[in-house]
Amino acid sequence: MSSMQNLSSIADFYKTDKYEHGYTKVYEKYFDNIRDQKLKILEIGIADGKSLLMWSDYFQNSTIIGIDIHKIDIQKKKLDRNNIKVHQGSQSDEKFIDEIISEYGSFDVIIDDGSHLKKDVIKSFHLLFPHLNDDGLYVVEDIQTSYNHFFGGNPFDLKYSNSHMNFFKHLTDRLNYQEIANPFYVGNKYDAKITNISFYHNLVFVRKGVNDKLSKEVINHSYEDMKFSEKSSRTGNSFKYYLKYKIFYKIFTLVFLIFTMIKRILLLRF
Ligand SMILES: C[S@@+](CC[C@H](N)C(=O)[O-])C[C@H]1O[C@@H](n2cnc3c(N)ncnc32)[C@H](O)[C@@H]1O
Repeated sequence: MSSMQNLSSIADFYKTDKYEHGYTKVYEKYFDNIRDQKLKILEIGIADGKSLLMWSDYFQNSTIIGIDIHKIDIQKKKLDRNNIKVHQGSQSDEKFIDEIISEYGSFDVIIDDGSHLKKDVIKSFHLLFPHLNDDGLYVVEDIQTSYNHFFGGNPFDLKYSNSHMNFFKHLTDRLNYQEIANPFYVGNKYDAKITNISFYHNLVFVRKGVNDKLSKEVINHSYEDMKFSEKSSRTGNSFKYYLKYKIFYKIFTLVFLIFTMIKRILLLRF
């Protein structure tokens, strides 16, 4: 197929459902300016191989690696191309994923179009995100399964259930982790590693990158400490500001923390 075709026409040609779901229009926004680069693209879930053929035509200088839990007949599905590699294994099998990583190293784009089960979506993210290059994209398709209990989602508690959609919603806090004014803040392994998370209809995009700029609002996750250091150095009046920020405001923060903890326990929100 011609390298001049846009992604949606290639998708339409191969009849991949990424076209009818409207995903290819979104992908074009991210991929049009990198399509000629030499990238390593991993897609979880091959099925008939339609999307692998689409990526292979679109990213002609890249290597497309597909993994699937089922055996894929490469000849029958016409996947025997130089820039397509196929492996059989589960997206949440740590040993298998380790083998893929030792063979290919890190990736520029990872697309999860596998089982769409909560346990697999979240486990694969934990296993694979560390092996995404900086500025790389991690995409999860069909995240609407989060609203379906047969996929491990929860249609009855959209806010507090531990569905895969909520996993990605909570990941957005990692963007602003420096500003969390909780002096007892416990770090998270994704702090400083995500620069953007975008949600589309049934799709999530997570952009990896360095996000470690120090906050101007808090110091060591404490608003009081920041204010104390700012005001006392500006005015030279340490005692007054010590009483105000290190004692009075700190007590307020501790009371607020205790109140929030009691509320969470009573509402069984852990
Ligand atoms: C939606 S289809 C993939 C469609 C393909 N990406 C496309 O767009 O043409 C999902 C595929 O994921 C595979 N799959 C299901 N569970 C899996 C798992 N745990 N690990 C890897 N692949 C899995 C299925 O065998 C199936 O082929």
